[in-house]
Amino acid sequence: MKPLRHILSLNDLEVSELQDVLRIAEEIKADYKRGLRPKRLDGKVLGMIFEKMSLRTRVSFEAGMTHLGGGSMLLEEQHIGLGKRESVKDVSRVLSSMVDCIVFRAKHHETVQEFASYSTVPVVNALTDVSHPCQALADMLTIKEEFGSFDDVKIAWVGDSNNVAASLVEACAMLGAKIVIASPKGYQFTNEQIEQMTAKRQPGFEIEFIEDPRVAVENARVIYTDVWVSMGQESEEQKRLAIFKPYQVNSSLMALACPDAIFLHCLPARRGLEVTDEVIDSKQSRVVEEASNRMHAQKGLLVWLLED
Ligand code: CP
Ligand code: NVA
Repeated sequence: MKPLRHILSLNDLEVSELQDVLRIAEEIKADYKRGLRPKRLDGKVLGMIFEKMSLRTRVSFEAGMTHLGGGSMLLEEQHIGLGKRESVKDVSRVLSSMVDCIVFRAKHHETVQEFASYSTVPVVNALTDVSHPCQALADMLTIKEEFGSFDDVKIAWVGDSNNVAASLVEACAMLGAKIVIASPKGYQFTNEQIEQMTAKRQPGFEIEFIEDPRVAVENARVIYTDVWVSMGQESEEQKRLAIFKPYQVNSSLMALACPDAIFLHCLPARRGLEVTDEVIDSKQSRVVEEASNRMHAQKGLLVWLLED
């Protein structure tokens, strides 16, 4: 039996473990491209709780688990009534007695923490208001595929210092990459968040905070943005759209980055707001590769967590 591990943030892995997860993901992807789907998780079952909408996360876990010889089931909030029909504690204890792993997309990070504290099988954060570690795994895989390593790659995050940005910073810290964060005042990380995200920083890691996106993208080889209004922030929409307007990634912003820069977005995108059609559909865009890497990266994580 493997020791029980929950992955609620990338920091729940040691640096060498994160490297192992990415290495397994690369192996599995190479196999997959050769038409091979080794059944490394034969007979294992994944439970998937989703309190928010999803395309990529749900499909990549479900398809990935099937390729690995296992099965998965979707448990939507309205069907299980987590915390309403039944307590978080009871759902966690019962579900974890029947499945081998649980992925959980929750409105509140604390719910996943509480759920994990009662689970007898690994719990993986599939996005909360605080972080999105599975996304960062795929992002780092995509950047490594593009540039071969993280040396000489500066990543510019343009927009909200949100859940996706938080996991990206953690990944950069642990893998020794350089990142600059361009967010408007009031939407920047706190010192406490920065301390937490960079706790496992490795040589090569650098972080800068620059308010002006035009300055931030200079010499960057990855330009990354996300929606200005995340799920759960809908009541702030009008205010946020006005504040983030200068942070749109458009052709003139991309022109200030390195000539070989790529564009990333975790998706879903709101075209015409945080990114223009001409950028997301350009030759520099890697958003589809990035999305499809969700499946390979998560297979790496599932195999690392569950393989006998
Ligand atoms: N990027 C991402 O997590 O997409 P979904 O919300 O569609 O799962
Ligand atoms: N920041 C976005 C990411 C969606 C994948 C959100 O939380 O809605």
